[in-house]
Amino acid sequence: MESLIWLIGPRASKTCVSNLKGQIVEPIWHRFPDGEAAVEIPSEIWGRSLIWIDSLFPHPTESLWELGLIADTLCRQGCQVTAVIPYLAFMRQDTSCHPGHSLGAKVAANWISQLGLSRIVTVDPHINQVEGFFSIPLTVTTAQPLLQAAVLEKDLHQPVVVAPDLGRTKEASEAARSMKAGFAAVSKTRGPQGVIADKLLGSVRGSDVVIFDDILSTGATLAQAAQICREQGARRIFACVTHGLGVGNVRQQLENAHLDHLWMTDTVPFNPIFANATIVSIAPLLHATLSIL
Ligand code: R5P
Repeated sequence: MESLIWLIGPRASKTCVSNLKGQIVEPIWHRFPDGEAAVEIPSEIWGRSLIWIDSLFPHPTESLWELGLIADTLCRQGCQVTAVIPYLAFMRQDTSCHPGHSLGAKVAANWISQLGLSRIVTVDPHINQVEGFFSIPLTVTTAQPLLQAAVLEKDLHQPVVVAPDLGRTKEASEAARSMKAGFAAVSKTRGPQGVIADKLLGSVRGSDVVIFDDILSTGATLAQAAQICREQGARRIFACVTHGLGVGNVRQQLENAHLDHLWMTDTVPFNPIFANATIVSIAPLLHATLSIL
């Protein structure tokens, strides 16, 4: 039997690809003096089934173009390509906030769907409904069980899972059910002053709180959610996020959040700003998912 071939992209996190079984190929990326990107596959792969793994962060817009270059190169070699994209950027733009606003999720899904790939595998893509945006199979997996197992190692007192905004209530209430915890949700608004948490629906008084979110970008959502929970009498405040992007003034926001601990996965390359967070690797999740496809 031919061994599995993995092609590793420039944005795949090192921990997530550290124990892959099979042949590893690292494409060679070139940059022309004017900035144009090009790629070359340094091995004989004609007609093989292979797995491409890369995230769409950092530099999400550029990463989409690079995905196009690699997909075209592999498909012209007669390969069948499963693209593992642990962090699928643009999916927050699933609806236009106001007339005249672009729909990034739709544009990215259309672009990726026509690249000749056989299948996409991704982790916690903001909302699972984005599966319907793609015209090729999209396998959605979740890091929730891994993150829940990590947080449950703490001796939690009267735990309450908190959704940091109303868009996360479904995922957070499922986490609450599986952790046998209470449930609460923050109502947040984004305005000229940034993210404001204006209400907490449910009670956290005297409880250990676990905030679950899909993305930690600037950290504003987490900081606001943590603050309102503390004001409402929470005991300790933990947070779990799948995609730790860490951009803008995230350092300040995390200081404001005063979290007792933060867990995040390695869907994107490790950002040193999260030195105090525990990284939960998605490697076993990818292994389990790919073994049944
Ligand atoms: C928003 O809908 C997402 O689920 C995250 O809450 C958001 O992307 C976090 O962004 P930030 O860290 O910048 O507040």
